[in-house]
Amino acid sequence: MSNASLRSQGWFGRTGKDGFIYRAWMKNQGIPDEEFRGKPVIGICNTWSELTPCNAHFRELAESVKKGVIAAGGFPLEFPVMSLGETLIKPTAMLYRNLASMDVEESIRANPLDGVVLLCGCDKTTPSLVMGACSVDIPTIVVSGGPMLTGRYEGKNIGTSDIWRFADAVRSGDMSQEQLTVAEACMCRSRGHCAVMGTASTMACMVESLGLTLPSNAAIPAADSRRKVLAQYSGSRIVEMVKEDLKPSDILTREAFENAIRINAAIGGSTNFVIHLIAIARRIGIDLTLEDLHINSADIPLLANLQPSGQYFMEDFYYAGGLPVVMKAMHDRLHADCITANGKTLKENYKDATSYNDDVIRDLSNPFKKETGLAVLKGNLCENGAVIKPSAASSHLMRHTGRAVVFENIEDYHARVDDPALEIDETSVMVLKNVGPVGYPGMPEVGNMGIPKKLLEKGVKDMVRISDGRMSGTGFGTVVLHVSPEAAKGGTLALVKTGDMIALDVYDRTLQLLVDDEELAKRKAAWKPSHIEATRGYVQLYQQHVEQAHLGADMDFLKGCSGSKVTRDSH
Ligand code: FES
Repeated sequence: MSNASLRSQGWFGRTGKDGFIYRAWMKNQGIPDEEFRGKPVIGICNTWSELTPCNAHFRELAESVKKGVIAAGGFPLEFPVMSLGETLIKPTAMLYRNLASMDVEESIRANPLDGVVLLCGCDKTTPSLVMGACSVDIPTIVVSGGPMLTGRYEGKNIGTSDIWRFADAVRSGDMSQEQLTVAEACMCRSRGHCAVMGTASTMACMVESLGLTLPSNAAIPAADSRRKVLAQYSGSRIVEMVKEDLKPSDILTREAFENAIRINAAIGGSTNFVIHLIAIARRIGIDLTLEDLHINSADIPLLANLQPSGQYFMEDFYYAGGLPVVMKAMHDRLHADCITANGKTLKENYKDATSYNDDVIRDLSNPFKKETGLAVLKGNLCENGAVIKPSAASSHLMRHTGRAVVFENIEDYHARVDDPALEIDETSVMVLKNVGPVGYPGMPEVGNMGIPKKLLEKGVKDMVRISDGRMSGTGFGTVVLHVSPEAAKGGTLALVKTGDMIALDVYDRTLQLLVDDEELAKRKAAWKPSHIEATRGYVQLYQQHVEQAHLGADMDFLKGCSGSKVTRDSH
């Protein structure tokens, strides 16, 4: 692409009043005239926020990107977008993923940008930025913020997955409130996102598997100086990508998505991967379905021994060689010739990868677990599908039939779960309704609901749990998620009553409510939605337009790409 044909020249290359306005106000930042004369303008889309602690180091990271852009002859301009911090935002960051993606899409299209670097970290900041960028489709590269260093508490390594263990230990009296407070600082002892293979790390692996980053992006710890080096190189590379006109639509082919699914299964990635990947695919025009997830995951064993499915942390993963080692081990199962952001194929990027710890990253001949990292379920309880993470489930519950104990919503669950009179034992199946996209709204991470206190005290560690919600990528257990259609939309889940029998068979990939069709039809005729409907603002828009989990929970009107053309030019 010649400098004269750069998109940004539609602003900065103009003469007369319009050109004056576009350049003059930029010059109040001390920018010299030559910056506007045909240099590729690179937007640095920054999710920095002190309300998003996982991304709080991003201004520094942006400086490294800028150095790279300048070194390669580009003109960097940093801009903020809505930042979604998983830990503080109520009711759930997922409610705002689509809103943030709209911010990103419109910010990129409306401004004089030729290429964009997406600074992503905490869970939703990756899919929201990638979704928005895909709907514009100018050259794009992703830089992840990197995981925290491994936590250390009382001489042991800890990470986010230990929160669930700590919470259960406090409820059962094995841990004091004081010990819990000490553990807080021990867990989060450095900059970066969650240090396990939770959703943020899964997203960082997803973008590397898709080819949207430089190699090794996924695992370099945030506190490791090599993270800044990668950011600087990414800044230089995006300038070249603009010259080559290498866009997301060139990289994000169906084969690239299939690679991401297979790699996600091998690393035991978060179940949230399913929803975000499908949403991204639908933005870029690939009709990816749960069936594709199933077909491409089914025969992939777990290679990465990482929490929550295994033992190690993201820091260990990086020192063991990181994602390129996993890719190399999976060479025969990948579309190795997919093009990536650095202009090389996936295979060229991983061919020299070396494994430095084969206990952390195994190969196909000696997997860490035979169970795949992801399974898609079908049955009358989830006509459009549901997901489970077999690698983080209990083997004795993978094929289980039990009596349903139903909670109508999350408030009902909190009110009754620890009631000593609740009729429940370890063979029961806990069912939680109305935590789906429309029902909550926003599909929160409450699917791995805590086990009743009286069962914890008996030593019960896991039970089958089913809901239309999601689970934190750091969570674990035999937890069926993303049931579609959700209860609030009148799916079969809405019709389950306490005392019904439910059969889960992860090996056969089925989830059945053992109630005959006649009885279900009667219940359906009497059913009325019980969720709260918003009456104004974004939440109303969301409830009216959000799609079901199996479609990625995006808004129906956001599917697809509008390109980078600005429709009206009023100056
Ligand atoms: Fe931000 Fe876990 S809370 S990645």
